Amino acid sequence: MGQRDAPGTQRSRTGRPGPRRAARPGRGGRPGGAAADHGRLRPARRARPQPVRQARGHRRPGRRAAALRRVRRRRALPRDRGDRPGPAHPGRPRRPARRRRGEQRRGGVGVSGARVPAVAVVGAGAFGLRHVAAYRSLGVPVTALVDPDPATRARVAAEHDVPRTFATVAELLAAGAPAAASVCVPGPAHRAVAVALLAAGVPVLVEKPLAATVGDAAAIVAAARTHGVLCQPGHILRHSAPHRALYDAVRAGRLGQVLAVSSRRDRPRTLSRLFPHEHPALLTAVHDIDLAIWYAQAPVVEVRAAARTRPGSASPVLVWAELRHANDVVSSIRNSYLLPEHTPNHTSDLVEVYGTDGVAHVDLGHPTLLVQAERTEAPDWLLSPLDGGGALAAELRHFIGRVTGTEPSAVVPLADGLHVVQVAAAVADSAAAGGAPRRISPDPLS
Ligand SMILES: NC(=O)c1ccc[n+]([C@@H]2O[C@H](COP(=O)([O-])OP(=O)(O)OC[C@H]3O[C@@H](n4cnc5c(N)ncnc54)[C@H](O)[C@@H]3O)[C@@H](O)[C@H]2O)c1
Repeated sequence: MGQRDAPGTQRSRTGRPGPRRAARPGRGGRPGGAAADHGRLRPARRARPQPVRQARGHRRPGRRAAALRRVRRRRALPRDRGDRPGPAHPGRPRRPARRRRGEQRRGGVGVSGARVPAVAVVGAGAFGLRHVAAYRSLGVPVTALVDPDPATRARVAAEHDVPRTFATVAELLAAGAPAAASVCVPGPAHRAVAVALLAAGVPVLVEKPLAATVGDAAAIVAAARTHGVLCQPGHILRHSAPHRALYDAVRAGRLGQVLAVSSRRDRPRTLSRLFPHEHPALLTAVHDIDLAIWYAQAPVVEVRAAARTRPGSASPVLVWAELRHANDVVSSIRNSYLLPEHTPNHTSDLVEVYGTDGVAHVDLGHPTLLVQAERTEAPDWLLSPLDGGGALAAELRHFIGRVTGTEPSAVVPLADGLHVVQVAAAVADSAAAGGAPRRISPDPLS
């Protein structure tokens, strides 16, 4: 860039200078060519049939194809490392992964006209259903659904025209591996499902948290690395428009140097009844931990936390945590399951970033438009609407782009998914130990 071309050279389509070629007769725009002939009185000549390649201007197919092959070989991209950090040359899209034997070949044409892969959704519960709807809203065909519950999978398949259903991932793979899959099973089942798919070469989006334990999360990371297959942790808020806008402001340095992050998430009491065995740190605070490491732009090195229960119950309904990051940013995280039963989600979600030059926040508790009718709704809350769209569709669009090679880099690197689980486990552990500090190992895989 900025270098002047040497005289006698012209730029090729790759932008590289090359030797100037003499104009060939018979090509458009040149003397003697079709355009130059236009309007002249010449005896009409019957066009001789040409091979297709030549008719399109590929005059020397053998030599040009060989040169192109050489260029492609020189630009060969490194093998996928699981989190696929993007091509060696930014801006140049990655080549799509090669198709494996037995892989389902059916796909569709997306809004951009590009070929999109057919996907499977594993787990057809509350959030699996949203994945199916979001893929459909993007024009991505969902060709298989996996759920051990026959009634659930039959209902969701019928509602969304999913042609094939299976009770297990093993059955799905035996019928032919899908081009990609969403893992929407409960956290404790993430490891078995994700590892089986990765071992079969299927790129996966694993819902948050990446896994229920650090050991399980490390096993998923190891499988992605061993098999060289994409694994995207499902941290949806990095794809939510207001949260992204705050991130862009932080990255642009508009707040100066980040000093602190504060995050609040209150949910109805229903959650501790529906998920009695999942600690709030791993169930919901993983969203806030992920935002904290994203906005602080540094991993967490130390955690102190407290948890409280309601009388007569052992399940925590309140988690208070303080995190210290490697760059000395402090984060404060507060989650509760204390709201009345039918309170909609997001009514008090708040994240604030404090920097040396300013303070900024995303406050979903005061949405731009709030409709309180039979249902309470606000457009700002549309993270995963029932009919597709929202941040979930943005997340899945990114996933499909990573699978097809049009998205050069990961919004949520796999290592961040593992780190979030590590921090959440440390929060639960510190709270159980009465607030004792817990150090976070910088290398959980060792
Ligand atoms: N990103 C978010 O905001 C968000 C929101 C809700 C849930 N989630 C995540 O999505 C996942 C699913 O949550 P949910 O609320 O849909 O749970 P759910 O209990 O409603 O549904 C889980 C489904 O998985 C099925 N299942 C269980 N084991 C399976 C297996 N081995 N193979 C295939 N199917 C299996 C169950 O039969 C059930 O239908 C969880 O990891 C959860 O944390 C994320």
